[in-house]
Amino acid sequence: MPKVAFLLNTLKFLLWIIRHNELDTINLYNSITPYIQIATGGNGNMLNFGYWGHNKKTEHMNPMQAPMQAQEELSALIGKFGDFQLSHRIIDTGSGFSAPAAQWKSTYDFLDIVCVNINSQQLSTAAKALVPPIATTTGFNIINANINNGNASTADATRQPVTSVMCGNIISLVNATATTLPFADECVDRVVALESAQHFKPLQHFFKESARILKPGGLLIIAMPVMIGPTDGKINWSSFIHQFRKLGILYFSWASEHYTLDSIESSLKSEGIKIEDIQHIGHYVYEPLANYYIQNRKLLKKTIKDNLSSYVQVMSFEIVENIIYRSALKMKNLSQKAVIDYVLIKCEKI
Ligand SMILES: C[S@@+](CC[C@H](N)C(=O)[O-])C[C@H]1O[C@@H](n2cnc3c(N)ncnc32)[C@H](O)[C@@H]1O
Repeated sequence: MPKVAFLLNTLKFLLWIIRHNELDTINLYNSITPYIQIATGGNGNMLNFGYWGHNKKTEHMNPMQAPMQAQEELSALIGKFGDFQLSHRIIDTGSGFSAPAAQWKSTYDFLDIVCVNINSQQLSTAAKALVPPIATTTGFNIINANINNGNASTADATRQPVTSVMCGNIISLVNATATTLPFADECVDRVVALESAQHFKPLQHFFKESARILKPGGLLIIAMPVMIGPTDGKINWSSFIHQFRKLGILYFSWASEHYTLDSIESSLKSEGIKIEDIQHIGHYVYEPLANYYIQNRKLLKKTIKDNLSSYVQVMSFEIVENIIYRSALKMKNLSQKAVIDYVLIKCEKI
């Protein structure tokens, strides 16, 4: 019986990784995030790779805290890169546990931030976990946009002006897909996607929606992993073979779309969004993150396994961990060969 459960779990996990539609993405995060939280002693509530710029020598760092420091650095970088000090209202799309939003709110206390996430479980956790640290100056307002885990047509039907769902100087949580944003035209100063746009499908819809809800002069700020090199933009056998030859096993284990920087730039331009700046930070992301993992793998695995109670859980974890570890090594390798990069993109709505 445990063997059947183990096989079923593994099969489901592999499907979530390979297919990556919206429901797969939700299931994948729900299955992986408990491990992240155990490995960080319950404190890890950001879900990005982090910016390891000032911490490239990972061997000197506290293994339980190093990833969180890098993640906070990446969020801080986004705040500066996105000129948050000049803005008032921000939509954070793909907001995870809203930890980046809480960090921005503590730095720029005048901001109204709306966190948009397809994953309602993450939003509920955010509401519980993040209220106390900011309760004195702000409140949380959870809005269920009646979106049934990514049903875009429902999202469309329930679209309403952002002013009617926000009240004052707060962080609001909205369960919606980033490809159909339930907000009025020209109502925000910033749209942010911190390591989430790689999941948005089609990405073009997200750009169209961002252009619609941004005020003229407003900024779209994106941080995301990308492939480098040209693409014909088509989904066919020759593009599959081309990508597979470049990515190898990462073609399957990279559980999101593999957008190229070229295709992103041309999609942005076709929506009339002006690219202001692109920063290439891959060397401060993949290599130090993989080095950290290599150095601390034993400890992290032990910490997690000590918290698992059943044989099925341990066996499932072994499979998941192996895939994640191999992917981290491959990402380091491909970043060094300039096949993949991690970019910060700043664009202006004209
Ligand atoms: C890598 S995590 C980043 C989370 C957060 N930005 C952070 O840095 O901690 C990606 C996030 O995107 C969300 N997401 C994926 N697809 C989405 C979609 N179509 N619409 C809205 N959110 C989505 C996931 O639920 C997850 O919270």
